[in-house]
Amino acid sequence: MELESRLSRRVRQIKISATKEMPMIAARVGGCVSLGQGIPSFKTPEHVVDAVARALRDDPAAGKYSLQPGMPALRRAAAELLRAEKGLPADAEREVAITVGGMEGLLCAMLTLVGPGDEVIVPEPFYPSHVEQILMAEGTPVFAPLRREDWSLDPDAVAAAITPRTKAIIISHPHNPTGAVWAKADLLKVAELAIRHGIFVICDDTYDALTYDNEPAFSLASLPELRHLLVGVFSFSKRFALTGWRVGFAWAQEPLLNQMLKIHDAAAICAPTPAQIAALASLTGPQDVFVAMRAELEKRRNLICERLSAMPRMGHVRPRGAFYVMARPDLPQGAVADSRELAIRLIREAHVITIPGGAFGPGGEGHVRLSFGGDEAEINEACDRLAAWTKAL
Ligand SMILES: Cc1ncc(COP(=O)(O)O)c(C=O)c1O
Repeated sequence: MELESRLSRRVRQIKISATKEMPMIAARVGGCVSLGQGIPSFKTPEHVVDAVARALRDDPAAGKYSLQPGMPALRRAAAELLRAEKGLPADAEREVAITVGGMEGLLCAMLTLVGPGDEVIVPEPFYPSHVEQILMAEGTPVFAPLRREDWSLDPDAVAAAITPRTKAIIISHPHNPTGAVWAKADLLKVAELAIRHGIFVICDDTYDALTYDNEPAFSLASLPELRHLLVGVFSFSKRFALTGWRVGFAWAQEPLLNQMLKIHDAAAICAPTPAQIAALASLTGPQDVFVAMRAELEKRRNLICERLSAMPRMGHVRPRGAFYVMARPDLPQGAVADSRELAIRLIREAHVITIPGGAFGPGGEGHVRLSFGGDEAEINEACDRLAAWTKAL
């Protein structure tokens, strides 16, 4: 019997995201510079490497499973971070779980809250894995378009998306893929809607520390009146440049977190212990290296915007957070069918990896997402190639 028909409905309706697919296409082409996947170029800082190496040498527990919800010291440090940065009085033992990246925290939330018939509101353009996770939970994503002119959050669009079946809304802020940092007033209106309708808010704060122009991002995790409906998801990947270590954490009130921990146990048992040690060293060790990384990302943001502005046929909205910009090439009529063809041609002909905007929803069509996680030399080389390719069209 044919394999496809024997697979679960769940797996048949999801796909590997374009963010992972484009680098695979580029690997076959060779010689590409990447503005693709969101990976900060920084290597793991020395003090973090030292802490992990020391623990692996000296502590027999370092290579074994940790407690299922995570190492107590890391849960305490994570709770302290939430208290200090978001005013969230997190109880380390009852309300914080260490997860395999933010991604597994999101999945635990989704599989705990969402089932067949449930709708989840997703501001759009969206982070594709949010939608894949909703589908995995057999829920239905309902898009609430961002305002197209500046990618700001539109509370009216969120209100219009609410139905009696709405179970949750997912908020990625600062926003992937647009780099937008949203107005506190708009976020508060969304929180009000959630409270009025009893909708859970999955607050994906993966990029919380990465904002520019001295403007911090407001987090819904800091709102006391939302706590009974909140799942906060946080990551060590981007702010501490630990993408490969796969460690993050989740916050929810105890009864909800206990349910999420059942999924965590079935899916992962615990986050990798050496990665938890790296996360603890990142949180509790010297912070200057991370402050410098953020400053470097701001310089890269300035550079890529300058380079895009200098290209006569490349529109964009200046990002104020994360490390992405949606670029809108103004190509001759019929030059490419859609953003996917554009991204594939950019790989084959310009040797630049970008992510097709259509992969982030209908509002992303006509764009490619560029990451400025790479260093200045990479950004300059990729922009030289992009400029030459668009000029030659
Ligand atoms: C919006 C968003 N959420 C979650 C994640 C997952 O991050 P992690 O590496 O913590 O699993 C990413 C990664 O790119 C992301 O962009």
